[in-house]
Amino acid sequence: MSKTYRVAFIGCGRRAKQHVPGVKADARCNVVALADVKREAAETMNTEAGFGAAVYTDHRAMLEKERPDVIITCLWTPLHLPVFKDCVAAGVKAVLSEKPMAPTWGECLEMGRIADEKKCLLTFCHQRRFAKGNQLVRKLIAEGRFGAIQRMDLYSPKNLLDCGTHTFDQALSFNGESPAKWVLGAVDTSQLIKWFDVSAEVMATGLVVFQNGVRAYFQVGDLDKDMGTGVRVHGSEGFVEVEWDGQIRRAVVYNEPQWAPPVIEDTPENHMVGVVRNAIDCLETGAEPELSHRKALRAAEIIFALYESVRRRARVELPITSRDNAFLTLLESGALRGQAPNRQYSAGAAERR
Ligand SMILES: NC(=O)c1ccc[n+]([C@@H]2O[C@H](COP(=O)([O-])OP(=O)(O)OC[C@H]3O[C@@H](n4cnc5c(N)ncnc54)[C@H](O)[C@@H]3O)[C@@H](O)[C@H]2O)c1
Repeated sequence: MSKTYRVAFIGCGRRAKQHVPGVKADARCNVVALADVKREAAETMNTEAGFGAAVYTDHRAMLEKERPDVIITCLWTPLHLPVFKDCVAAGVKAVLSEKPMAPTWGECLEMGRIADEKKCLLTFCHQRRFAKGNQLVRKLIAEGRFGAIQRMDLYSPKNLLDCGTHTFDQALSFNGESPAKWVLGAVDTSQLIKWFDVSAEVMATGLVVFQNGVRAYFQVGDLDKDMGTGVRVHGSEGFVEVEWDGQIRRAVVYNEPQWAPPVIEDTPENHMVGVVRNAIDCLETGAEPELSHRKALRAAEIIFALYESVRRRARVELPITSRDNAFLTLLESGALRGQAPNRQYSAGAAERR
């Protein structure tokens, strides 16, 4: 009989509820506790999911009392590092954190450093890596179905940090995980938004060149896009357009006009099942998780390098040496204010995803 793990949630809002199918599908997960500063949020989730878990309003008290093996954190972005530290201090074996990693590059690096040093498995929820369509596209690309990959077009909803992380992660997964080599970026600050407590631009665009020579042009934000959300991969023998969730919009192989990829049935719940199952598998085998912090760092560094490019008004080579979020530093210094007279706003719930 396989081992079971004491699992707890920290943060029981909208996103946490979407993780419920993941823990329910894995018999190794025994959800023992839910922590949320709003007791009602944890109690509602407990009732709806039928966990019968203990409810806490203080995650440190929960960690102390329940000694969980696995934590799923679904918190606003600035809380990701401090709560991860608390989990590690309490001896948690695996933390499945929501994306994006953190508001600054220094905090992202710190999370990775602690995870490596303390040997705590740490993942970030780029769950669409488990989408069947994305897995198929990765396989087709690896088999050379579209020839040698030359270029990608990336499309993401606003903003670079919150949604861009999914798109850059998708591109990295299609491009054999080759890290970025240099980037050049621009942001539209005619409006400023604040999602999950981090201020950001309303649109961004630019270029990412990867170490393997593939280049990716991107648009983050919603105006006049010629594709929804996802990645168009251009190869020497054809191309494929894939939505975030792995839905293949178009796939063309130039010298085989009749060829079409198989039709795939998939659900968002399936992606969340993959998130938990793969993490627990890797906890048991020691293998690198599909959503490892090492992979998340590659997407995060692209984002912070793009902000650095905005600050320097120059192309930026990776690895970057700054540790802040250059966009936030510019904003705090007043440098962006002149470009957004009277139009800055803090987005409320309706503005957040
Ligand atoms: N992977 C995805 O596709 C995806 C989609 C949506 C959101 N997210 C991410 O999920 C994260 C959370 O988003 P959400 O929509 O669930 O937010 P939310 O506001 O619905 O939920 C956050 C919950 O955390 C609780 N909380 C705040 N401080 C706490 C603390 N110190 N201890 C315990 N609980 C605390 C709040 O009371 C709230 O219930 C964000 O980082 C966001 O980027 C990811």
